[in-house]
Amino acid sequence: MTDRLARAATATPPTPPGAPPTPAGALSDGRASASAQAAQDHLVRIATSAPRRAATAAPVSIYDALRASHEIQRALCRQIVRIPGSRPDKRLAVFKSLKLELAAHEAAEERFLYVPMLMHDTGLDPSRHALHEHHQMDEMVEDIEALAPEGDAWMAHVKALAHKVRHHLDEEEHKFFQASGKILSETQKLTLGRRYLRDHARMLRVLAGKG
Ligand SMILES: [Fe+2]
Ligand SMILES: [Fe+2]
Repeated sequence: MTDRLARAATATPPTPPGAPPTPAGALSDGRASASAQAAQDHLVRIATSAPRRAATAAPVSIYDALRASHEIQRALCRQIVRIPGSRPDKRLAVFKSLKLELAAHEAAEERFLYVPMLMHDTGLDPSRHALHEHHQMDEMVEDIEALAPEGDAWMAHVKALAHKVRHHLDEEEHKFFQASGKILSETQKLTLGRRYLRDHARMLRVLAGKG
């Protein structure tokens, strides 16, 4: 495991590869908050790290790299749904982190998991399904940005987004990773993992620069 993945793993409850995800709400507020804060710190570290760091990291499979981001997304979803309307600044700060990680992950995942899958007949259906859900989540993020962060409507939409994110991540890990595992060679899985990590870090920097 690389330094980067090790840091990501510390941002979340321990979840062995292949193990079922921690149920939402299983953590106390304190632990959920701490893990989400660590996740946000992780985003900052990646966004400010030198590109050379990704290029020289030890090889990791595309699946380990994707799961690290998934755990960050889950941690941020656990935290954001518990922030009361009396703390709109906190709501916006965590939402910004979630939006950033979702967008950077989607872009790099589409390029280095789903594009290779689309080149195979058996990869068409799962890839199309996943890309459709990425678009749906993008639209949900846009809808939330149009709402007042202290309102009940904001939280209702955020809860719907968190539900959608969890569904999408679970489906990827339990169905689409297996489908792609039959398509990609072992060498490809490592090559794509390296390229995904480099592009994910670059996208975080690019998207963070947009504010
Ligand atoms: Fe995805
Ligand atoms: Fe994903």
